Amino acid sequence: MPAFWHWFIVAGTVVFVIWCVWLIQWAGKQGPQNVADDEVVGHRWDGDLEEWNNPAPKWWLYLYFITIIWAVGYMIAYPGLGNFDGLLGWSQEGQYEQEMQYAAERYEPIYERFAGMPFAELSQQADALKLGESLYASYCTTCHGSDARGAAGYPNLTDDDWLWGNTEADITATIRHGRNGVMPVLAPALGGDAGIDNMVAYVRSLSGLSPADADAMSAKPMFVALCSACHTAEGTGNKLFGAPNLTDDIWLYGSSEAMIRSTITEGRSGIMPAHGELLGDNRSKILAAYIASLSKNQ
Ligand code: HEC
Ligand code: HEC
Repeated sequence: MPAFWHWFIVAGTVVFVIWCVWLIQWAGKQGPQNVADDEVVGHRWDGDLEEWNNPAPKWWLYLYFITIIWAVGYMIAYPGLGNFDGLLGWSQEGQYEQEMQYAAERYEPIYERFAGMPFAELSQQADALKLGESLYASYCTTCHGSDARGAAGYPNLTDDDWLWGNTEADITATIRHGRNGVMPVLAPALGGDAGIDNMVAYVRSLSGLSPADADAMSAKPMFVALCSACHTAEGTGNKLFGAPNLTDDIWLYGSSEAMIRSTITEGRSGIMPAHGELLGDNRSKILAAYIASLSKNQ
């Protein structure tokens, strides 16, 4: 924090605390003059409602002073006064690191034991899968859903259809390094609206969602020329690029004409963030085994 803001906060806080002390003393001297405590002030409302000159209860007053003393003590012990670290040396990062270290000491031996197993065994080991399930719940549900069935743009991890592959190497690489599937904008090369419509019809016909009629088939040469580099000439996809299989009626974004049209006209760029640094090698492997087990249970 720059020096100016440090002193700004220190001065503001100290002045405010002093003001609180002054306020209670000043307020104690206010009230009706020439009226003794426990006497009627003389004001009267609604016939019999009278105002008494009662002092504030002592316990209330002490509470007020205790909060002031507490605040001063707190600011001496903990960080709060500008850049001052507090005498206890407590900090959020310090506490976080302490907890992480505690967790590492406690759980790392367990992770290590599992991570030493062969992958095939690991993906069938009940305790390891339970651990994988809880790691999944902590780190992956926001995007892939609590049942791992995904949503539009977020792949279903329980089916046996893989953008990037399901070997140990594939899944751990996906988790550790992340993935970015890039579908370029290709509409301009398709020759206007009719060309796009025909391509949409052709893509849908690959999964049997619409008839392979003359319109749809007229886009086939275009598909081979423009799309096969990533999706293959048959449309079966390529895991090297994360290009989906377009023939299996399993959709990352959706199968409607409008959805496929917007994929072609606007492009797509699905991002799976890298988790390697966050999770480390052992937890990545346990999670990968858990993910691999999901589609085997189908
Ligand atoms: C450079 C490689 C590349 C080319 C060329 C390419 N695609 Fe794609 N396509 C992808 C990738 C990668 C994805 C997945 C995007 C993602 O993960 O967000 C994709 C996604 C799609 C989808 C969405 C599938 C789903 O399951 O929702 C459709 C439809 C599609 N492409 C059709 C086409 C068509 C038609 C062409 C040719 C006009 C084409 N692609 C050319 C790489 C490519
Ligand atoms: C911020 C959202 C997000 C989070 C968090 C996330 N993912 Fe993903 N994940 C994605 C997206 C988007 C894709 C698809 C990438 C693409 O379009 O190619 C994906 C793809 C994958 C794939 C590849 C699926 C395939 O068909 O090949 C796996 C495996 C995967 N994620 C596992 C995980 C695991 C395990 C976690 C938790 C550690 C996780 N993801 C957390 C968004 C996320």
